Amino acid sequence: MAFEIRISGTDVSFPCEAGQNILGAALKAGIEMPYSCRKGVCGNCAGRVAKGAVACPASEAAEPGQHLFCQCLPVSSIEIVPAAWHRIDPATRKTFRARVYRHTLAAEDVSIVQLRMPPGRRAKFKAGQYLQVLLPDGSRRSYSMASPPHESDMVQLHIRHVEGGQFTRVVRHLTAGDVLQVELPFGNFELREASDTPLVCVAGGTGFAPVKSLLDDMAKKGIRRPVTLIWGARHRAGMYMLPAVQRWQSKLPGFSFIPVLEDRLDARALDGFHGRVDDALRAHCPTLEGHEVYCCGAPPMVAAVKNACIRERGLDPLHFFSDVFVPGPASS
Ligand code: FES
Repeated sequence: MAFEIRISGTDVSFPCEAGQNILGAALKAGIEMPYSCRKGVCGNCAGRVAKGAVACPASEAAEPGQHLFCQCLPVSSIEIVPAAWHRIDPATRKTFRARVYRHTLAAEDVSIVQLRMPPGRRAKFKAGQYLQVLLPDGSRRSYSMASPPHESDMVQLHIRHVEGGQFTRVVRHLTAGDVLQVELPFGNFELREASDTPLVCVAGGTGFAPVKSLLDDMAKKGIRRPVTLIWGARHRAGMYMLPAVQRWQSKLPGFSFIPVLEDRLDARALDGFHGRVDDALRAHCPTLEGHEVYCCGAPPMVAAVKNACIRERGLDPLHFFSDVFVPGPASS
């Protein structure tokens, strides 16, 4: 049985089919709300249910009184108060048979895969968004575009190999000419271009990919906001695309880079910070009032950075944007 979901204080409503979660129903209806993992991990989709009843698993990712819309199923018609929302056109999402143009190993466990769109077709997306690879068994994997939107005949993906991962086995053997079925764009991790505040971008490992797309796009558009990039890896090899960082140093005025390495000798060799990215952020950012923070990586890292930004450095919670990477099949 379908229930109706209404956005509180508006006349906007949409149907929710049996077994569908609130976020899934909203996206299907062309209503975009903040989200990232869609697995109940990141907390980005949290909002309030003002009227009606929902069934939700217990979660620590939601503050008291909030519900994770990616996990909650209505059991009656409901009224919700999302953190933010806007209309999107679901028809802008397209499926392509993309061909592998190049596959290189940037580090022992990181593949850089360049996909070329079919002749005459363009991949339309905003910097920071992601695509899904559709696998023959019906499952999907999500990867951020690392390339900027103006290079729309091609997309670049940074794929971390996951030990025992089903798709990792496929990725390791990808060669030029192989075809992948992809759908895009997804996600709302994107630069708030109306703002002129300084940015802090924090990336862990291949969380560098969406940040690269954002910064390449800023360079292309001539956006002149001060940017601090904090990029964390275990070893020097994990800083697998330093030439891109060098480009931003010459193209983005007010750009500064803090490499963060768990290996002490590698940190010294790169004149970087030894330790964790949240500690590097504390050390280099005495205050984050009047800033925006864009953070991408594994759930514990993003949670630690968010905590440091908001609780210790005065960042407005509405100015923390994150893309949380959870390995395995994508959820709908
Ligand atoms: S917890 Fe719902 S999108 Fe991450």
